[in-house]
Amino acid sequence: MRGLTANALRRAHSEAADPVEREHVTPFLYRRPERFVLANMRNDLPLGREGWTVDTPDDLAFVRRLVDQMGDDDFPWRAAWAAVGPRATADPGEVQLVPAGREHSAFFLACRNDEEAVRHSRTHRPIARTEHARWFSSVIDDPGVRMRVAMLAGEPVGTIRVEVCSGVGEVGVAVAPTFRGRGLGTALLESLLDDVATDPQVVALTASVHTGNTPSMRAFARVGFHQAGADGSFRLLRHDL
Ligand SMILES: CC(C)(COP(=O)(O)OP(=O)(O)OC[C@H]1O[C@@H](n2cnc3c(N)ncnc32)[C@H](O)[C@@H]1OP(=O)(O)O)[C@@H](O)C(=O)NCCC(=O)NCCS
Repeated sequence: MRGLTANALRRAHSEAADPVEREHVTPFLYRRPERFVLANMRNDLPLGREGWTVDTPDDLAFVRRLVDQMGDDDFPWRAAWAAVGPRATADPGEVQLVPAGREHSAFFLACRNDEEAVRHSRTHRPIARTEHARWFSSVIDDPGVRMRVAMLAGEPVGTIRVEVCSGVGEVGVAVAPTFRGRGLGTALLESLLDDVATDPQVVALTASVHTGNTPSMRAFARVGFHQAGADGSFRLLRHDL
């Protein structure tokens, strides 16, 4: 969810030179956390891919119908949501990414601390509960970090973290141990690409994979990441998304 002041927009308009910052409204602000106050707003509804941006004539017709139905053009989005319900229909067999909340802290740790994940991690050691809690509470409200839980038929099956810095998102992915090896890692990354396609802050994605981590190397390659070095670094540019 984005909320911007008119002053911030005026400054972006007068200063932005990068084509990405001129085409989209927000990257100029997101990329300068030292100048603008950034905050994450999270909601408690699993909105998945729901989006009410007006891009197409159908979107405009939808917004016009909504305003007619509400009988006023000044209403909170929750009232609109209560009136129209979900537009995006989810296939129960499809992985959906939802924004992670504090309640998912233990699930993130469970996907990171099993033997296989530890072996393929950068430090090769499990993370202590207190260290994880500290890290999780710092990233969950960080506007530069996307924390997502992958849901399949209502059950959490994996996690995704994207840390965005100057337009480049570093991806970390994990599937819960009992769900690995069934195509879900690949499906999670595919859903991430859908997610990021509408994220104006992300110009490119990168991943650092342990070269002995065959499932991860293959999953990134399968969804179109290019191997950028023999050390297991992968890269995907936005125009490939
Ligand atoms: C890496 C990870 C996310 C992959 O998810 P997954 O659901 O197991 O992977 P998928 O089932 O989608 O398989 C991906 C590819 O690896 C292959 N693969 C899966 N398990 C494998 C195994 N044990 N050995 C060899 N290849 C394997 C699959 O055949 C597939 O390759 P293909 O598309 O060429 O056929 C998951 O294994 C995981 O969470 N590991 C621990 C955390 C981790 O290492 N994260 C990556 C850090 S960036």
